[in-house]
Order: sequence, then structure tokens, then C-alpha cells
Amino acid sequence: MHPAFLRYLYPLTAALTGLLLAGCGKSEAPAGKTANSTAPITLGFMVKQPEEPWFQLEWKFAEKAAKDLGFRLLRIGATDGEKVLAGIDSLAAGGAKGLVICTPDTRLGPAIAAKAKAAGLKLIAVDDQFIGADGKPMTAVHYLGISAAKIGESVGQTLAAEMKKRGWTAADTAVCVTTFDELATARERTEGALRALAAAGLPEKNFHRAPMRTPDIPGSFDAVTTLLTRQGSVRNWLVCGFNDNAVLGAVRALEGAGIGADRAAAVGINGTDCIVELEKPKPTAFHGSMLLSAKDHGYRTCEMLFRWIRDGMEPPLDSRTTGVLITRENFRQVLKEQGVRE
Ligand code: GLA
Repeated sequence: MHPAFLRYLYPLTAALTGLLLAGCGKSEAPAGKTANSTAPITLGFMVKQPEEPWFQLEWKFAEKAAKDLGFRLLRIGATDGEKVLAGIDSLAAGGAKGLVICTPDTRLGPAIAAKAKAAGLKLIAVDDQFIGADGKPMTAVHYLGISAAKIGESVGQTLAAEMKKRGWTAADTAVCVTTFDELATARERTEGALRALAAAGLPEKNFHRAPMRTPDIPGSFDAVTTLLTRQGSVRNWLVCGFNDNAVLGAVRALEGAGIGADRAAAVGINGTDCIVELEKPKPTAFHGSMLLSAKDHGYRTCEMLFRWIRDGMEPPLDSRTTGVLITRENFRQVLKEQGVRE
């Protein structure tokens, strides 16, 4: 193997293990072979934030698909555009036939689609839909993502119900929403949440947007710390954001300002990156999360790609998945049912 190829695999040891394991299965995997070849089909699975539990779970389910269906899986952490494009070269050189990708930048869509086509790779975008040169979603590229607006609305409805349960009123309650508007699925989620909160009777003037510079816990923490210096007189806070990390940083920033579970209620999205939070013996302001289906995003995308390559069965252009609320009360049971936890 060329050493340059290894540089693109993340994390190195885990990816290598994955490679070796995937490779081991190949002699017992005739189902995964193409008609005119004895080698198993190879698929790549690139993710933008390999350190995020959500993406680690996608990989875990992708590996399960590789084992069940008998293809070889290469996991690649592609944290920037350069890594994506170099990764596609490596996949092509390694004889891969397909790629599932959550791109680090959706505006790379046209470049990724062109490069994948030239390399003979069938392509499915997962989580983050490609954006074309015209600024619109690239609907001709196969995509599997969440029903973002709907799931955001469920977050808003959950927060409104918590507000009512706690006896808080529109007069003493404000909304803190961490935003990441450059990503369409993120914008649709937070706008959905605000729409539902407005429908529940909260006035727009109570909505405080905290734009995140980076889509992670520090990005959310910094944005909300700044917001709180301006909004020190708010009594109660409802908190939402586009995923668990976007909300966890906010919860930590509120704690830093002395605001805990008695004065704040927060709901995330993913359900996979907040498990430690829900397991804490003393409840924090993090009330719950909309658990998404990492299995659909990891396993089903690979299965669709595999059947497309092996059997010529083209998948639907646009597939959407739903979410289910987990809280401290039900998360252990639901995570078990969904195969996220033993
Ligand atoms: C985006 C987010 C992830 C996760 C997925 C779900 O990629 O960054 O944390 O929410 O969407 O599709």
C-alpha cells in the first residue's frame, strides 16, 4: 500500500483494523463480488467529523452492512476539501466502485460529483446535501438525510411542553438557539424549532440567535457565552440547536453563568452525542434529544450503493429519515431497541 494512501485514513489504527477486517472477509464473501470479477466490491465511507459519536455510529453500521453483504469498506475521515479529493483518488486507485459521503463543505458538491464520476464511483451523499454552483441543493445526486424541518419542529414542540410543565410564561422565558446557517440541514432544523415555538405562543422578540463559528461544542459554548453577556436579565431559557453538540455547548455556557436545570431546558438532535450527559446522576438543563437513525444513515446507504453497483438497482434520489425523542426517562430502553447500545 502506498504510504500517501494511509494518510487519509482516520483514525489511522482504527481504519487500518477496519481495512484488515474487511479484507479478511473477502474470501467468504462471494455475494459481494461483481459478476465479472473475483474481487469483492469496495466502497468508501467518508465523514466530515470523524470524532463525533454520530459519525462513528454511521461507520459502525456501515461495517455491519459490509459484513452482512460481503463488501470491503474503507472508512475515511475527510475533514476538509483537500482530504475529500485526495480520498477519492485513493479510492479510485484502490479499485473502489462506490462512495457514501458526508462532505465537510456542501459547496464542494459539484467538484465531488465530477471527480467521483471520472473515477467511476457511484455516489450517495449522506446527512449534508450537496449544494450546486447556483446555491441550490443538487437534487440529481442521490441523497439520504433527515426530515430536518419536521425534526426541528418536534424540538420546538418538546421545549414548549417543558415550558408549560414548569409553569414558565412567555413573559419570563426566552429562547437561545445556536445557529449554523451555512449548512442547509442545520438551518432547516433551527428554523423548524423556532416556528413551533412561535406557534406555541412565544413572541419573536424572545428569540435569541447565537451563531456558531464552528459546528461543535466549543463553537456553541463561545456563541452562547457571548449572548449571555448581553441577555443577563432573562429568567428562564429554552435551548435548541442543530445537533447535540450545538446544544451541549450552550448548556455548559449557561452553567458558567450560574443557570442550571431549574432555569433552563435544552433539547438536542442526534441522540448519540448526549448519552454521557443523560447518564449524569444529577439532571442538567439538557432535557433530551431527537434520536436519529444512525443505522439508516450508515447501513442503508451502503446497502443501497452496493445493490446499485452489483445489481443495477438504482436507489431513490431523495430518502429522508425521522427522529424519536429520548429523555432521561426512556433513553436506555430506546437506544437498546435501536441497536445503538447493548
Ligand atoms: C449533520 C450533522 C450531524 C448529524 C447529521 C444527521 O451532518 O452535522 O451531527 O446531525 O447531520 O443527518
